[in-house]
Amino acid sequence: MAGKRFHSSKKKKLFAEKRLKSLKPAQLLTELNLEAGDIFIDIGAGNGFFSLPGAEIVGEKGKVYSVDVQIDMLLDLKHRAQQAGLSDRIEICKSDDNDANLHQKADFMLFAYLFHEVEEKDQFLDNYFKFLKKGSKVVFIEWDPSQREEGPPLHHRIEKDDLKSMLEERAIKNIKIKEIDYNSYLVSGRKV
Ligand SMILES: C[S@@+](CC[C@H](N)C(=O)[O-])C[C@H]1O[C@@H](n2cnc3c(N)ncnc32)[C@H](O)[C@@H]1O
Repeated sequence: MAGKRFHSSKKKKLFAEKRLKSLKPAQLLTELNLEAGDIFIDIGAGNGFFSLPGAEIVGEKGKVYSVDVQIDMLLDLKHRAQQAGLSDRIEICKSDDNDANLHQKADFMLFAYLFHEVEEKDQFLDNYFKFLKKGSKVVFIEWDPSQREEGPPLHHRIEKDDLKSMLEERAIKNIKIKEIDYNSYLVSGRKV
């Protein structure tokens, strides 16, 4: 189902100056304790807004798996990774709607601006959460339904508390919710 999906023809917008300045992806990932040597799995990675700074942080001993259903987005990411000299740390993974196609478990799994696009949310989470190591970190970033500026239609957005409940049902503990810039909120937790 592609009805809510971000269209790859708009991919340049993801690297807009305003978005970079508001979200500060490198700083955000560092504050969330992404570390050197980590296996960082970026689901719905798009063209690499978080995967690229993630690859800098995990360093030579770490690895980034950038997962997306749209090959166009992944090819743009690949190009950006080559230009940044980060190709050897980033593996692109073309997924299907609910098929993770992964072969590694994560220390840190990110779902940024993607979950509102997913139709079969429970099945999707069950598929991906199989790839969380014990003690790993899970982070969601989503559009805040109470903020009206920019972003997808309000009825596509997810309430923070609904997302929190879905994570609690799947043994994610220490769940924290915070509002961040760019009309967004962040939910983080750990797999026990
Ligand atoms: C709005 S973009 C966000 C990209 C990136 N996370 C960012 O914040 O810049 C959402 C991405 O999620 C991808 N996507 C949507 N549904 C997906 C699914 N079921 N599995 C993997 N990727 C998906 C889309 O193809 C798109 O590239």
